[in-house]
Amino acid sequence: MITLGIESTAHTFGVGIVEDGTILANVKSAYEPDEGGIHPRKASEHHYANAKQTIDNAISKADISEEDIDLVAFSQGPGIPQCLQIGGTAARSLSQKLGVPLVGVNHCIAHIEVGKLETGAEDPVTLYVSGGNSQIIAYAGGKYRIFGETLDIAIGNAIDKFARSIDIPHPGGPRIEELAEKSENLVELPYVVKGMDFSFSGLVTRLQQMLGDYDEEDLCYSFQEYAFAMLVEATERAIAHLDKDEVLVTGGVAANKRLQEMLEVMAKERGANSYKVPNEYAMDNGAMIAYTGQLKYNSKGETEINRSGIKPDWRTDQVEADWNG
Ligand code: ATP
Ligand code: FE2
Repeated sequence: MITLGIESTAHTFGVGIVEDGTILANVKSAYEPDEGGIHPRKASEHHYANAKQTIDNAISKADISEEDIDLVAFSQGPGIPQCLQIGGTAARSLSQKLGVPLVGVNHCIAHIEVGKLETGAEDPVTLYVSGGNSQIIAYAGGKYRIFGETLDIAIGNAIDKFARSIDIPHPGGPRIEELAEKSENLVELPYVVKGMDFSFSGLVTRLQQMLGDYDEEDLCYSFQEYAFAMLVEATERAIAHLDKDEVLVTGGVAANKRLQEMLEVMAKERGANSYKVPNEYAMDNGAMIAYTGQLKYNSKGETEINRSGIKPDWRTDQVEADWNG
């Protein structure tokens, strides 16, 4: 079975093509804001302008023809409504044109499923950390449930905000990581973990107040140490609570070496395995939507056209993910 999947929840318009458990193509076109954060209308204009070309590129990359496609999957939510709308429209028209079924996929669950496919993790506690999301998710009782999450902004958003205040363009993560590597001087910052939840907005405000009085490299280093320690502490609590022995990290922030290292140390101490999703599949991408669409279709069938509207606030635990067994 060959599935084409479309991702368009935020800044990435991605198209992936999957044949059963094999990824044949994963092509993306990312909107990059000139300044500031994501502008919903500009991002959706970018997606609209690039949709057809990205779909065509994926088909030629996969070395198939349009007629070979058996199923069209798309990211139905959660995400920015204007952006979701473009992917939804593209998916509906492609499925109608080809006369093949359509399936709507939850973006957060897709991150986990492709992570399991790529790493071999079977039943992990997942730390999903990106620009728009920071959640600790695990499978329990037929659903992926959120055991911990940010009480305010996502970690990637926090990093990008601080980056902007020191004139680093979006996305700020890689540059902040480079600056952090140049320091070992820890300065005190707010540390907020409540059970398995955490918060970053006070941390960013404090860092912004400290600018000028402290070395930027020390601030970047301390930011990472505090923020990642919070994420790792909450993840460890979830592993202990659920008695699982695998941890999977995904999302754009999973690219960070220091975060990976801290998770590995924690996992090792607990006798658990830690897995990191390769960057190409950890960032928003179409392959994860195609692969998860196929799992969902095989277990639950297609998404009827009148139920294929976008779901900007779709929560992970609203999905019956019983294809997991
Ligand atoms: P989502 O829709 O899942 O919220 P997104 O639109 O934020 O995703 P991603 O590509 O998953 O897109 O993540 C981008 C985020 O990852 C940005 O906030 C960016 O700063 C952050 N990031 C990228 N590389 C690093 C890094 N090395 N260290 C820390 N953060 C990073
Ligand atoms: Fe994402």
